[in-house]
Amino acid sequence: MCGIVGITRKRGGVISEIKKALKKLEYRGYDSSGIAIVNGNSIFVIKGVGTIDEVLSDVKLEDGTTGIGHTRWATHGGVTDDNAHPHTSCDNKVALVHNGTLDDFHYLRNKLRERGHVFRSETDTEVVAHLIEDKVRSGMDRLRAFYESIAPLSGSYAIAAVFAGSNEIFLARNKSPLVIGLGEGENYCASDITALLHLTNRFIFLDDGEVAVISPDEVRVWRLVGQEVIPVEKEVKEVSWSPSLIDKGSYPHFMLKEIYEQPHVLRQIADNVEYYLKFSQILAESIETGRRISFVAAGTSYHASLVGKYLFSKRLKAQSDSIVASEFLEWGDFIGVDDLVIPISQSGETADVLEAVRRAKDLGAKVISIVNVPGSTLTRLSDETVYMMAGPEIGVAATKTYLAELAVIYSVVKLAESYIEGRSPNPEEVRKTIMEVSRVVESNLPFMDEVSVKLSESISKKRDVYYLGRGINYPTSLEGALKLKEISYIHAEGYPAGEYKHGPLALIEEGVPAIVLMPVNPDLQSKIIYNLMEVKSRGAMTIAVTPEELELEDVTVIKVRWDRPTEELSPLVYIVPLQLLAYRTAVKLGRDPDKPRNLAKSVTVE
Ligand code: F6R
Repeated sequence: MCGIVGITRKRGGVISEIKKALKKLEYRGYDSSGIAIVNGNSIFVIKGVGTIDEVLSDVKLEDGTTGIGHTRWATHGGVTDDNAHPHTSCDNKVALVHNGTLDDFHYLRNKLRERGHVFRSETDTEVVAHLIEDKVRSGMDRLRAFYESIAPLSGSYAIAAVFAGSNEIFLARNKSPLVIGLGEGENYCASDITALLHLTNRFIFLDDGEVAVISPDEVRVWRLVGQEVIPVEKEVKEVSWSPSLIDKGSYPHFMLKEIYEQPHVLRQIADNVEYYLKFSQILAESIETGRRISFVAAGTSYHASLVGKYLFSKRLKAQSDSIVASEFLEWGDFIGVDDLVIPISQSGETADVLEAVRRAKDLGAKVISIVNVPGSTLTRLSDETVYMMAGPEIGVAATKTYLAELAVIYSVVKLAESYIEGRSPNPEEVRKTIMEVSRVVESNLPFMDEVSVKLSESISKKRDVYYLGRGINYPTSLEGALKLKEISYIHAEGYPAGEYKHGPLALIEEGVPAIVLMPVNPDLQSKIIYNLMEVKSRGAMTIAVTPEELELEDVTVIKVRWDRPTEELSPLVYIVPLQLLAYRTAVKLGRDPDKPRNLAKSVTVE
């Protein structure tokens, strides 16, 4: 999960542009950083452990026109200056950056060592620079040396390479994302479009097994077949995301900005609700014809899929599965021809999700994904894609895309319900409902944030926090706990409240926080109040997110102001104070919520 960037242009200024683009990719990894700039007949490299600002603040070089950059999240080799990218050949005439992991690189490295190559790092990547050098030495031109070096590689890679004395950037992709951005008298490449949106909105999305060469005036793409290449025509896609969305504005962190953007995201979905009619119709037909349906997703998106599973059962009386993507290859053998598989993914690049989808397709399933990032790999693997319209999400912890996933699932289910019941769907009704939730989130945000600031005083001093939910808010408990643990590093777990007494209750002792998500439905309320008392009587510090009219004694309550609360929409509102609590706690503890340790936004390794 690294970020790579390349820029080739006629006018200078390439170093500052690469730094600017790289900074937009820091959410993919930030152990180490580096750049390589073609400087006449040599290549200037600066790299090391640290963020882009730390490593590249003081680059002294006459500005070049062609260069590549990298921000690293270590996989092969520790976090050291030598292991930082770019990696170079022995003669320093080839430099390259890589995102992904190569299998069998030890074998290649030993072979190259026998041929006299000297390695400076422990990385898998460095092998490729030496492979290319070896082939150039044997008389091959650059293109051939490049693709013949790529051909024997197995594993995942997005690679960008430069040669001394050339303004071309050589690219290759297999199972790691790589896009080409098109400019005027300049072209670019990057791990994803967010790095380049301030430069262009026109993109070519490379597919697995493709290699490309970009220069200021030209982009050429080939498909690698064995040791040969065949030219391919690629479609140029225009992306409507605006670069201003990748700016923190006046917010101290992207995460806070994205939490506050949630009402707007809901409005976007509400305004485009008709767009989801086609998917809802396919869903209704799938249910009517008895097809099996499985969600597949990871992390936050998996939690959204659980809400989907709940609503399919409650509203559509349809059984579905929710499979954690990294477990799909083990648990998904039952998938058969014509089954419907619904991957949910913000990035559309999560390796576990992509592998699951490849398997599902091999087994003959139809794949309709719910995705945020336009043109991402998942959109190209799927039979159909519906977009969640959340705009770019930069904070590593998913927030606004969780709400978007829930709103899309809710809309699709409501529309499908009409088809199943033989009525015409009523998008206007769904639009109004989502609009109302948007208003509720918007009006509660300031108050929820105030409460979160206060609560973070005590939560930040705790070692463990438990979240309890029932029914549709069981996934909310999981998501609330995930937010807290990933950005504050406080241990947190979510449980179905009724299950808690079957073991975890033993963990409750004086002062341990238990955060309870109070259902809207009175029958469920009385059950969870009983669960709440169970933990309270054992000394837990109890906090409850509740509808406004509910009175609870001796419990810290976060009352949601909402005129007509409904159980089915409550996850969209209840998660907001939990996101804010996680954010405020992380800040209180001095953690950077946008860059949690060990984590990266797009998890492109299995
Ligand atoms: C948690 C988080 C991760 C992602 C997971 C899946 O805040 O962001 O758990 O949800 O890595 O990512 P996508 O949705 O991009 O497939």
